[in-house]
Amino acid sequence: MHGLVFERAGSISYRTDLPEPRIEEPGDAIVAVSHSGLCGSDLHPYAGREPARAGVIPGHEAVGAVIAVGPRVSTVTVGNRVIVPFATSCGVCPPCHRGLTARCERGRLFGWGDPDDPGSPALQGAQAQFVRVPLADGTLVRIPDDLDPDVALLLSDNLPTAWEAVQRAGPVPDEPLIVVGLGSVGLCAIIAARSLGASPVIGIDPVAERRALATRLGASVVADPGETDRIDIAPAVVEAAGTAPAQRTAADLVRPGGTLSIISVQTTTSFALSPIEAYDRNLTLRAGRASARRTLDDLLPRVLSGAVSVPAAQIITHRNAPLSEGPALFERFAARADGLIKVSFAPH
Ligand SMILES: NC(=O)c1ccc[n+]([C@@H]2O[C@H](COP(=O)([O-])OP(=O)(O)OC[C@H]3O[C@@H](n4cnc5c(N)ncnc54)[C@H](O)[C@@H]3O)[C@@H](O)[C@H]2O)c1
Ligand SMILES: [Zn+2]
Ligand SMILES: [Zn+2]
Repeated sequence: MHGLVFERAGSISYRTDLPEPRIEEPGDAIVAVSHSGLCGSDLHPYAGREPARAGVIPGHEAVGAVIAVGPRVSTVTVGNRVIVPFATSCGVCPPCHRGLTARCERGRLFGWGDPDDPGSPALQGAQAQFVRVPLADGTLVRIPDDLDPDVALLLSDNLPTAWEAVQRAGPVPDEPLIVVGLGSVGLCAIIAARSLGASPVIGIDPVAERRALATRLGASVVADPGETDRIDIAPAVVEAAGTAPAQRTAADLVRPGGTLSIISVQTTTSFALSPIEAYDRNLTLRAGRASARRTLDDLLPRVLSGAVSVPAAQIITHRNAPLSEGPALFERFAARADGLIKVSFAPH
């Protein structure tokens, strides 16, 4: 099959000779990927901040059609159109039961680590024609055939992640909320904050075109990180950038007693704010992988009913790219070049 392969930090290759995944466990499904995303999280191994070994297919955001199921799968069947959330979850273990599907006892991530290393329980990813999905019953989410594929793709990760980040920040309706970092996750956080009633919603990013898009999505104030002195501190701040300076900016903008919701993946051993600061300003810090599968139970009906409107085509600036352009698109995405905010690949 066709797909991308992680070779080493800074190097992704396009291959046409990859083995097609097969059913390995009775709870598996195989999904033919119609769309898969390129996400800020893919940049961590690409930039060498997280380990990944040669041979791993990257990608953890997918939409597609089920083409095979194992004998124990009962909630999806061949032909169903599905979202593949970025981590698998069983739906029945104690963390899943509590809604913490991100920390399912049997959960695994797509597209990271080394699939041949038993100590590294990552799965081959979705930037390929097919992906194997273990725990299919607990993981896959059926969607109508007419749901816009760009919206469906954002629902596999960035939108539920942002939704949860905003909920963790705890905005009270009509209270201000600041989003630091306006990549796809931060832009989705602007949508979520507006939908959940925060006001005003403020966006911060060094890239002018991302600030402009945040304004179109409903941010009433936007600023470069160098000009935050004109931004009032807020009770709720979401950090969706993933760099120490951005986290510093976010921490500075939380008012005493407020919450800093860090949704970026953490790849360092300390936060950009000190325990003394957290104590002296009575800050609440929240962090961690989003439970996208759990959040979809609440969010998908809102999107399908139109209660939450998702102008996905504005966020996914490079849509339906062939996988063969993957190596170049990784490079351009990492450089935040050419107006590129998010890529969707169309492997089928
Ligand atoms: N917690 C989860 O479950 C989860 C899920 C998905 C993504 N993530 C993480 O969320 C983060 C954002 O993802 P993304 O796809 O939007 O990434 P992205 O790389 O597309 O966006 C990051 C944005 O931060 C901006 N930025 C950089 N420095 C900044 C600064 N000093 N101040 C303000 N903004 C700054 C960039 O210009 C960019 O627009 C990443 O760390 C990603 O790994 C976490
Ligand atoms: Zn992602
Ligand atoms: Zn579980």
